[in-house]
Formats: sequence, C-alpha cells, structure tokens
Amino acid sequence: MEHSGKFIVLEGPDGSGKTTQIARIETYLRERGADFISTREPGGVQVAEKIRSVILDVDNAMSGLTECLLYAAARREHLMQKVIPALEQGKIVICDRYVMSSLSYQGYGRELGEAVLDINKRAINVDGVEYWPSMNIYLDVTPEVGLQRIHAKHAGREINRLDLEAEDFHRRVREGYLKLMAEYEGQFTMIDASRNEEAVFADIKGVLEKLIF
Ligand SMILES: Nc1ncnc2c1ncn2[C@@H]1O[C@H](COP(=O)(O)OP(=O)(O)OP(=O)(O)O)[C@@H](O)[C@H]1O
Ligand SMILES: [Mg+2]
Repeated sequence: MEHSGKFIVLEGPDGSGKTTQIARIETYLRERGADFISTREPGGVQVAEKIRSVILDVDNAMSGLTECLLYAAARREHLMQKVIPALEQGKIVICDRYVMSSLSYQGYGRELGEAVLDINKRAINVDGVEYWPSMNIYLDVTPEVGLQRIHAKHAGREINRLDLEAEDFHRRVREGYLKLMAEYEGQFTMIDASRNEEAVFADIKGVLEKLIF
C-alpha cells in the first residue's frame, strides 16, 4: 500500500459493542493527540448513507446478491471519498465494519459463498491496489448475547432489516466470523466481547497501543 496511515476496522455480530467501543476509542485517541478519523459502514459519505437506508429499511425485500452488491457499492464510495484520502494524509482511520462483515453476513449468513469475496475484491481495488485493513478487531459474542443487548435497549438504535433475520442466520454469521479468523489469521485480533465494556476496552487499548504508539 502506498499510504502511511493505519486502517483499523471494528468487526463483530450485531450487538457485540462495536459502536459503543468506537466512542471510547475516539476519546482515547483524542487524549493521546492522535491524528484520526472515525467512520462507519455502510455510510460515512452521502451516497453511501443513502444506500445504507435502502439496505436497512425493513420494507425493502431484496435478494441476497442485491444486498451484497449494495454493500459493495457503498463500500467503494466510502473508501474512495473518505478512507483513502485520510490514509494518504497519514491518518488513523477507525471504521465500524468493512469487508469481513460482508464475508460473514452475505457469504455465510446469506450463504452466497465465494461470490462475496469476488465482488468485494473489485469494490476495494482502487488504481490496482486492494485496500485491506491494517487490523480487524473482532468483538466476539454469541447471537443470544448480541441480540438480547439490541432488543433490551431500544434506545441505542433502530431495529433494522438484518436484525429481524431468524436465529439461524445470526448463528451462521458468527460461525462465519470464526472461520474467517482462521482463514485471515494475520488480519484479525479477537476479543471476548461478552464481558463488561471496560474489560473489552482494556483489550482494545492494548491492540491500539501495539499498532499505533
Ligand atoms: N460490553 C457490554 N456489555 C453489555 N452491554 C453492552 C456492552 N457493549 C455494548 N452494550 C450495549 O449493547 C447494545 C449494542 O451495542 P452496540 O450498539 O455498541 O453494538 P454494535 O456492535 O455496534 O451493534 P450493531 O452491529 O447492531 O451496530 C447497546 O445498547 C450497548 O449499550
Ligand atoms: Mg453499531
């Protein structure tokens, strides 16, 4: 890769605490005086936020492949408009979800398999360079724990189209993540996210310290 930045992605099933932990990461990096941006997928730039609302709308029925293509389209625009420029300025980019989310949710959850990798390799290839994260921080919880958190506290966010999928779907997603961890070993750090927020963040901080400082 041509840039000097660090691309750090938070991954994990619904309710694993990605958004919660990113808020803590922001505070921590600000205190350390780090030059960073924090962003999310799908979204982060206008066209991708619009695609996000199409994907997550509970009224929009669509095939798994359509869903995969929409995520990939949003991913590419977000990457080109926001992530790459920041990396080229030497910034740290903290991102809520990226390619591993598609490989687990659409590849394993929707059972689309290898097609998802092919589509995503296209989506993250800009001028002949594939933009893979410096690190995926994977927050591991069972679907029981994750979904219970989301449904218990409606306050956090709205229930979306993917939350409403059957238990089997969420089980395949988590199993998918565990398989991806083995397959892409050097790209992942796994954290047990069933513990309290402070304990989870202590581990994340350890990872950030090694990667950045
Ligand atoms: N370690 C934790 N222990 C208990 N509850 C938690 C923990 N971390 C987050 N929560 C709560 O669980 C809910 C889901 O957390 P959060 O929104 O951060 O998950 P997420 O991984 O971003 O989910 P999604 O993938 O659906 O966006 C929130 O109500 C949050 O306050
Ligand atoms: Mg979230």
